[in-house]
Amino acid sequence: MENGNVKREGFSSGMAVFFATLGSAVGLGNIWKFPYLTGKYGGGAFLLIYLLCIVFVGLPVMVSEFYIGRSTGKNAIGAFTRLKGPKSRWKYIGSAGILSTYLIMFFYSCVAGWVYSYAFKAVLGSFTGITAKTAESKFTGAIIGPLPPIIWQIVVMAVVSAILIAGVKKGIERITRILMPVLFVLIIVCDIRALTLPGAFEGLKFLFHMDFSQLTGVAILTALGLAFFKLSLGMGAMITYGSYFTKDNNMIGTSIRVALSDTLVSLLAGLAIFPAVFSFDMEPGAGPGLLFMTIPLVFSQIPFGSVLLVAFFVLTSIAATCAMISLVEVPVAYFTEEKGIPRTKSVVLNAAIIVAMGSLAALSADGKSILGGIRIFGKTFFDLFDFTSSNILLPLAGLLIAVFTGFFVKKDDVRTELTNQGKIKTGAIIDVYYFIIRYLTPALLLIVFLYYTGLTKILFNL
Ligand code: PFF
Repeated sequence: MENGNVKREGFSSGMAVFFATLGSAVGLGNIWKFPYLTGKYGGGAFLLIYLLCIVFVGLPVMVSEFYIGRSTGKNAIGAFTRLKGPKSRWKYIGSAGILSTYLIMFFYSCVAGWVYSYAFKAVLGSFTGITAKTAESKFTGAIIGPLPPIIWQIVVMAVVSAILIAGVKKGIERITRILMPVLFVLIIVCDIRALTLPGAFEGLKFLFHMDFSQLTGVAILTALGLAFFKLSLGMGAMITYGSYFTKDNNMIGTSIRVALSDTLVSLLAGLAIFPAVFSFDMEPGAGPGLLFMTIPLVFSQIPFGSVLLVAFFVLTSIAATCAMISLVEVPVAYFTEEKGIPRTKSVVLNAAIIVAMGSLAALSADGKSILGGIRIFGKTFFDLFDFTSSNILLPLAGLLIAVFTGFFVKKDDVRTELTNQGKIKTGAIIDVYYFIIRYLTPALLLIVFLYYTGLTKILFNL
C-alpha cells in the first residue's frame, strides 16, 4: 500500500490481524488486574458489569478505531489529518493517544521487567523452598532496586525493539502468531494443575459468586476503565493496528472475536490463580503482591510447581511483550510517517525515551525505592503515570473518538468501510452500533472522566 511517499507495510491475512490485535489486548491486565479486581468487587457481579462495559463501550470504540485506522491507512495522528485536513483540531485526539501510550509504557515496561526477572529466576529454580518471608524479600529486592528493575526494564525494551525493528510483517505479525497460541497452551496447563488441587472449588466460588453488595459506583467505574485498558483503547494502538488490516477484514467480526478471546484469557488466568491461592488459604485480594508473592509461594509448594512457575511467568512475559509492541508501535508509526525518521532509528529513539522516563517509575514503585518518597499531586511517579493515563486520558480520548465517529464523519462512509463496500451483510448491526457510539458510549465515558478529574464533586457535589 502506498501513502504519500512512505511505503507502508500491513498484516498479510485475517489470522494475522486477529493474533496481532489479540496480542495487544492480552497483557498484564488479564493476569494481574482482572483477577484481583474481580475478586475485590464481588466476583460474578463485577464480571457481569465488565461484560456490559465491553459490549456498550469497549466494542463500539474498538470498531471506531479500526474504522479510523483502516479507512485512512495512517498512524494515530495522520489518520485524523487525512480525514479532516491538516489544520483540524481532531488530530489532538491522536496526540492525546500518543501521550497516553508514553505514560502507560513508562510504568508498564517497569512491571514487565519484574515479570521477566521472575521468569528468569523461576528457570534458575530460585523459588524452591521459599517461605512467606523470603517471598516478600524477593519481591522487594526485585522492585526496590535501584539497579535490577532498571536493567530488566532495559531487557524488556531491547526485546520489544528487536521485534519492532523487524517490521510489521516479519516482527509483529510473526511473533504474535507464534506466541499467542503458546500463551493459550501454557495457561491451560496452569489451569489443569490449579483446578485439580484440593480445595480448588473455593477459588471457583470466589471468582464466580454473585455478590451485588460489593458493586459500588467505584466498582462500576473500575469495570469500565478496565474494559478500556484491556482492549487497548483510547491510545491510538487500535487506530495504528487498524491501518495495517487487510482490506477484506470483517472489522466488526474481528472486534467481537478479540474481545471474547481476551475475556477468555482473563477468566483462564483467574482459574489458574484463585483455586491455587484458596487451596493454600492465602489472601486473594493482595493486589500486585498476588502475582509476585502469593503465586511463587503457592506454586513452589505443589507437585510440578517449579515447572508450573516457569510456565506461568513465561506466559505472563509473553502477554506483556505482545501488548508492549502494540504500544510502542503507536509513536514509531507516527515518527516514521509524519516526521520521516527511518523505522530503526524511530524504534531506538522511542525505546530510549521509555527507558529514561520509565526509570522514574522503576525507582518510585515502592515506598523504600530511591524516588519512592517524592509526591506529585499526592502521587508517586509510578502512580501518576498510571492514574493520568488510565483514568483521565484514555476515557477522554475514547469519548472524543466516539463523538468524532458518531457525529463528525458521514454515516455512509462508516457503513461503506465497515461492510467492505457492501460486501459484508451486517443487517441492523451498523444502526445499533451508531446509536451506541453516538449516545451511550459518550455518556458513560463522560461520567468516568468527570469522576476521576474530580469534576463530579465540583459540579454535582457527589
Ligand atoms: N491491553 C493491555 C493489558 O490489558 O495489559 C494493556 C495495554 C496494551 C494497554 C496496549 C494499552 C495498549 F495500547
